[in-house]
This record gives sequence, C-alpha cells and structure tokens, in this order.
Amino acid sequence: MSTDLARSSDLARSTDPTTGTGPARRPGSAPAAEILARASAIAAQPMRRIAPERLESELAEFRRRTPRSAALFARAQGVLARGSEHVDPLSSPYPLFLDHGAGGEVVDVDGNRYVDCILAGGALSLGHNHPGLNAAVVDLLRERTGFHGHLDEFEVLAAERIIEVFPAAEAVRFVGSGAEADLAAARIARAYTGRRKIIKFRGHYHGWGDQFMVDLEVPGSGDFMAGGVPPEHYAHTVLVHPHRLDDLAAALAAGDVAAVISEPFGGESGLVPFADDFHQQAIALAHQHGALYVLDEVVTGTRAGIGGAHAVLGIRPDLITLGKGLMNGYPSCGAVAGRREIIEAAGTGLPDGRPFTYIGGTMSGNVLSAAACYHTLGELTRPGVLDSAIAVTADLVVRLNALFSTGGVPFFAYHFGTILRIELTAPHALLVEAERLPEIIARRALLADYMIPVVNAGVLSRMGRDMLSCGHTRADSDRVVNAYARLVELLG
Ligand SMILES: Cc1ncc(COP(=O)(O)O)c(C=O)c1O
Repeated sequence: MSTDLARSSDLARSTDPTTGTGPARRPGSAPAAEILARASAIAAQPMRRIAPERLESELAEFRRRTPRSAALFARAQGVLARGSEHVDPLSSPYPLFLDHGAGGEVVDVDGNRYVDCILAGGALSLGHNHPGLNAAVVDLLRERTGFHGHLDEFEVLAAERIIEVFPAAEAVRFVGSGAEADLAAARIARAYTGRRKIIKFRGHYHGWGDQFMVDLEVPGSGDFMAGGVPPEHYAHTVLVHPHRLDDLAAALAAGDVAAVISEPFGGESGLVPFADDFHQQAIALAHQHGALYVLDEVVTGTRAGIGGAHAVLGIRPDLITLGKGLMNGYPSCGAVAGRREIIEAAGTGLPDGRPFTYIGGTMSGNVLSAAACYHTLGELTRPGVLDSAIAVTADLVVRLNALFSTGGVPFFAYHFGTILRIELTAPHALLVEAERLPEIIARRALLADYMIPVVNAGVLSRMGRDMLSCGHTRADSDRVVNAYARLVELLG
C-alpha cells in the first residue's frame, strides 16, 4: 500500500482555485504512509490470541457483572432480528444494555460504569446528556412538535449556523440521517450535472443505500456486504482504489460521472488513510472532467476540528454531507450542504413540468432536530470546547502508544481530531485479495475477544474504532489506558 501512496504523489499536481487554499495539511497525528505501513506489518504477523483459560476467566467475569444485560438480551432475541439493531457485535458474549450517561461516562443496567468511546456511533460529539442542549430541547418539547410542510424559525437558524461553521456550505437541505444525506447528495449531483455515475473509493462507507452497498470497510471486499442488493442497483457506482489517482483519472475519463464521493480521512474515518494531498489532486481531477466532489462529513463534520475536515484540510468540496454529531444524538439528523446553485437542484414546491428532483422525509428538519442542530453547533464552536476535546484525544494517543511500545505489542494509536483509532489486528490491511477474506473475518473476530478485558476494565470501545467527546476528561483517558494495559498484560 505504501507503494501506491508513493505513486499517487508522483502524479502531476494541478491547482484549481476552487479546490482549496495553500499546501496540503496533515490531518492526523501520524503520516498516512506510516499508519498504512504499521497496519500492514500487524497484518503480516500471526494473530496474537488471548490464552484460552485467561479468556474464559474474562468471560466469566463479564457474565458475573452483567446478569441484567444477559436477561434483556435473551428477551431481545425473541423480538428483535437477532436481538439487535446494529451490524457490529459491540461486545461478546452479548451486548450490554445501557441505562444512562453523562459526559464521557455511561452506566449499564447492572450499575457498572464505563468510559464510553463509542458514543452512539460517534453521534455524541458533546458527550452524553449535555445539560445546556437538553434544557434547550426540553423547553421546546413543552410547546412544539412538528410542522411538516410549514416552517419553524429553528430550520432557518440551524441552516444559518451550518453556513457559518462549514466553509463549503452556502445552502442547506435537511434530511433524516447520514445515509439519506449521501443519497440526497448523489441525487442532487446527478440532477445538476445530468450525468449518471458516482465514483466511490473502495472501502468507504456512505450509508446503507443500495448504490453505496459495495466495497465497504475492507478495500476490495466487493459485494461481501451487498446481500439483498441486486447488482444493477450499484451499476452506476464506479469503484476506485483509495490511493491511486491514476485509477480515479481513468474512471473520470470514461465519462458520465456526476460526482466523486469520499470520506475525508480515508475509509472508515481514517482506518485506511489518504495521502495528505490526495483531495487537492482528486478535486482538481474531478473538476477537470466536469464532475462534482462530495465530501462525506457525517462523522468528521463535528470531530475533525471547527468547520469539519474540509476546513482542516483546506479544501473546498462542492457538496458536504452531515449527520451524527450535528445534533448530538437527537434523531432525524442529516443534511446536505454546499454550493447554492447545486443544492438548489433539489426540488421543492410543485413540479414545473421538468423532471422534479424529489428529496423527501416527513421528519426532515423537524423543529426539535433543527433546534438540536442549532444548539449543538453553538456549543461545539464555543472557543476552546472542541479544541480541548482534541487535546484530550491527542494526549490519550501518546499515552496508549507509550503503553504499547513498553508492552512489546505491535498495536498503535492515532487520531484525527476526536476520532481515535487503536490498531490491534488490522483486518482491513489485508486488502483486495478475495482469498484472504477468511483471515480478515478471523482478525475481526479476534477483536471481539480483545474487547472483553477492555469492557471488564470499564471502557466501551468499538473494537478500537473509537471516538472521544467534549465531555471526556483526562481521568476518563486514564481509565482507557488502564483498560488497554489489561489487554496487553493478558497477551503477555
Ligand atoms: C462516513 C459515514 N457516512 C454516512 C454514514 C451514515 O450515517 P447514518 O448512520 O446516520 O445513516 C455513516 C455512519 O456510520 C458514516 O460513517
């Protein structure tokens, strides 16, 4: 992979004034080439397993501490599909049921306390139960519900705030989720350009719409996650290698491309990071071929730094998609924003005889979500708030790396803003070769084992694909370091 990175930077750099300002900025705590090389080195080593008797004793402790979760999960299996709503098994042998939380901490139904590094899939940028935000929304709840079809002032306030915060946003369209925002962006791009294809980088995630359900997480995994999706539904999705500008250039040159869509820091929020100047070059290429550049800021918008990843990277996409942290966990959270003339390709009002670009959603931009957006962005951009959360994350990365190197394990940590990545078994570094799929699955499964001592030590981690919030403190970081120390010790 590092070879591919080297190739990408060899390509000619053309500068388009609309692609960004100044030289590429390094967004993460380590250079992409170093992250990729270290992940590949882990993937080249045999998997390190926890000794069976030690794993058994961790499992016994987990069961002892969580009987109410076990009982609720048994009930859930009777009524929810496979007992859960989520694709990731967040802990083994069964998921925890959580009761309440505040800041960076949650308490499960058995009364156990955890530092939460999952944060509702990253949606809680401000942390759990932010008092100011909750008070503002609860006040509204007393008198307002939904005014679908009519407007509430909060829709305007929220849109104005998005435009203030995100440099690429000139106009906004609210939708119901991050996945809907990506679907809306694709539709708007097609309506605006009159073209059909969307280019997607292998391994990137843009919600679960049919057209995006191909090649997720592990670059090269193809239709592995595309059960229930007829291949014709992604026939206009063109996959390109995440480190090869020549691949992107060829796909654009083939014509009929409405947009290139990308996660800002690489697939799975930086798990397979881009070279630092990748976007500048990719945007220039897209524009050269008359295609739009869509940056999926669903995760990064409230985590990379103020103004999202495109502000941090100094680039100017045509459209951005937002979700998750935009409303700090309040529902119906999604928006597409960008250049006014492009956003206005989305139809509203009555069709005038031309094909109408329909984007709907009963709860899109409802007053409570819009108010949550307005207040969340207000708090997040208050001086020092996001910067301190990023500083807590950076400090945690340094301490984890010190732990891993003294513990003699090849693990490593890095971060993009408050997005924390703790690389343990590197399944996604096995790239592209279908015959390695069984090993990739085994490496994913091993992560579930690794999480048992981490959870027992009082930390919820999404298998190392973690997030911190503005509610996390240095004391929370201490607990995260201690939890990983327990894992390292078990592997010793
Ligand atoms: C980069 C990215 N885009 C889009 C989505 C979809 O957002 P949602 O789950 O709100 O539909 C996600 C969710 O994880 C994401 O990580």
